[in-house]
Amino acid sequence: MGRFPSREEALNMLKSAGCPPEVIRHCEDAASLALRIAKACLRSGIEVNLRLVEVGALLHDIGRSRTHGIGHVFVGAELAREAGLDESIVRIILTHTGGLRPEVAEQFGWPPGSYEPVSIEEKIVAYADKLVEGGRVLPFGKAVSKLVRELGPDHPAVVNLMKIHEELRSYLGDGLAFGGLRKDIRSL
Ligand SMILES: [Fe+2]
Repeated sequence: MGRFPSREEALNMLKSAGCPPEVIRHCEDAASLALRIAKACLRSGIEVNLRLVEVGALLHDIGRSRTHGIGHVFVGAELAREAGLDESIVRIILTHTGGLRPEVAEQFGWPPGSYEPVSIEEKIVAYADKLVEGGRVLPFGKAVSKLVRELGPDHPAVVNLMKIHEELRSYLGDGLAFGGLRKDIRSL
């Protein structure tokens, strides 16, 4: 069992790794939304580790302290491992894009694979990451079209985002309020 930092420790790790302020803000926003989704899941009887969701969401982009390319996924996972963090947090960092083309990992010296979110905590963080933008929650349709523009319609991250949306909808119903919310995330 590796280390589980507190919220404050996670924020300090982002700072001391050298993440720019806008990355830290994005991580805080993703964590707010992820936590809100996770709590809604809990209320619906789905078992979710809230602390893992919060800390994983806060640290998911720590690799952006070094690069904004796709390599930030692997750099971030390495930073987390070096810091002795629990593997469940490392997995959240590795899977937060929602999925990779299998050859990508190999280019960064990691075992080949699509690095798709599997646990509910991994899914919630990947989902929240795609829905927050500039302190707001994007409607789901907008988040999908943005990703399709960036990656193309068949990319594993796009396919998985839609699967996760359906799964969360099956737990939370159509009252999935955050899907259509357009309000300041700090008021959530
Ligand atoms: Fe990222």
